[in-house]
Amino acid sequence: MTTSIPTPATIGTKRWLNGAVGYEVYVRSFADSTGDGIGDLAGVTGRLDYLRWLGVDIVWLTPFYPSPGFDHGYDVSNYCDVDPKHGSLDDVDVLLERAHQLGMRVVFDIVPNHTSSHHRWFQKALAEPSSAERDYYLFRDPAPGGGPPNNWLSHFGPSAWSLDEASGQYWCHLFLPEQPDLNWRNPSVRAEFDAIYKFWFERGVDGFRIDVAHGLLKHPDFPDNPQIERVADTAGPIERFFSFEHKYDLDQEGNIEIFQRWQDVARPYDAVLLAESGVDDHARLARYVSPGALDLTFFLKPGWMAWDPEKLIREFVGLATTEPMRIAWVISNHDQARPASRFGSAHRSLAVTTLMFALGGVPFLYQGEELGSPNGEIDPADRHDPISTRNATDEGRDVCRTPMAWNSDRFNGFSAVEPWIKSAQRPAEMTVAGQHENPRSALHRYRRLLSIRKHHPDIWQADPKFVATDRADVAAVQRGRTLTVANLGSEAFSINLGDLRWRVLFASQGGDGESARGVVNVAPETTVIFAVDQ
Ligand code: NOJ
Repeated sequence: MTTSIPTPATIGTKRWLNGAVGYEVYVRSFADSTGDGIGDLAGVTGRLDYLRWLGVDIVWLTPFYPSPGFDHGYDVSNYCDVDPKHGSLDDVDVLLERAHQLGMRVVFDIVPNHTSSHHRWFQKALAEPSSAERDYYLFRDPAPGGGPPNNWLSHFGPSAWSLDEASGQYWCHLFLPEQPDLNWRNPSVRAEFDAIYKFWFERGVDGFRIDVAHGLLKHPDFPDNPQIERVADTAGPIERFFSFEHKYDLDQEGNIEIFQRWQDVARPYDAVLLAESGVDDHARLARYVSPGALDLTFFLKPGWMAWDPEKLIREFVGLATTEPMRIAWVISNHDQARPASRFGSAHRSLAVTTLMFALGGVPFLYQGEELGSPNGEIDPADRHDPISTRNATDEGRDVCRTPMAWNSDRFNGFSAVEPWIKSAQRPAEMTVAGQHENPRSALHRYRRLLSIRKHHPDIWQADPKFVATDRADVAAVQRGRTLTVANLGSEAFSINLGDLRWRVLFASQGGDGESARGVVNVAPETTVIFAVDQ
């Protein structure tokens, strides 16, 4: 009998992505080395050994560039420097060198959809309407009857337009007024960003996570967006934003051409480009990673979902079938409530993550997820996120931005002083030190999952066959000599493994190493990775 060996699937031309697992560091809240209550680059460098121990391959750092901080760094006032509150360019060099020594890659965040209103380009655009910089942004005359040029909304509420009183024109901003959107139809803007990318690639960064990649181009005529549903007066800004079809302000066709241009800049450095794209439609999202475009794209939808097993399975299997290799899977980041809270328990979160690890592409964890952390507790008076401070209707994103809990010292070892955001101290069993001592902790379960994926590349690499089951809350995917069964439902699921002898490589609720044959039960809200036993 001959066995055919299928060509191993790869993620793309950047070979180092194959088999990799990513980890998001929210720099402000990871580790404070200077004692000012704000996380910094030297703090991250000091914790790289921990990330390597966990099994992380790619570290994504949220923006650390100079910024007035209206949106905590996503309002950049200089793309080629470091904000003193987060360190210096020398700290970047040290961080990159240490990460590379440890065999890890580092991806920075770039924010090309908008700058800070403090950026010199915008300052010049305001001061001199006849300057070249004016056309770096989207200034438009008022609507014929007065008021904003169209009905577009900002994600952070209310209108996407603010008035420049001096000229009588409005500027467009899909986020805060302090985050004016760039005009990506202007060749000078494209050239500026080529140079920014090169600046950092020359310094040794391994790639970029591209903020709001789906927002770059706007329809040249700026038509009104169609409203899809009416929302209550009490609706928060995000709900209001999504009550419109974003036909003319998001996901415009020409974005792909911009990605191809960036890829030409990144390719010689073997650097990776990863989209933050709010596109939910699987086929449209797949275009972002079509040949020559970006290397990977995040799929953000599961990160916004509550516990809904059937829907979660549908989304994961649906997208993995449409685009099997170039998705960055994630259920948690610095914008979304923590999955242990959103899903109702840490074990549900790990069950979903285990399924994610058996899909092609690159799974990402968000700091603290490996501890099974629930949302941080914050007094409403101490909120910082502009979504909540500028809208009485919204709690905002602070709950997932509280400091990393390293140990049981004051402020959980994040900082020697009160952190920039006040939150309840985490108990010992919710800290890295506390869980490190306990072999049954979430931390050790996650570490094992990362290690299993590394040692059994079939799990993500071999040709996927989704096995049909009679349950919509179950997914079963066979890849080479492995079989992953995700039973997110509340009833046990039995599966017939046939005559082969299998071993449990990883079971999200424990039971690793057990052997299995014939009909086996997968417990409710559990994902099991089996491998054929020799
Ligand atoms: C997505 C980022 O993740 C979020 O934190 C930020 O507020 C918006 N983009 C705007 O830059």
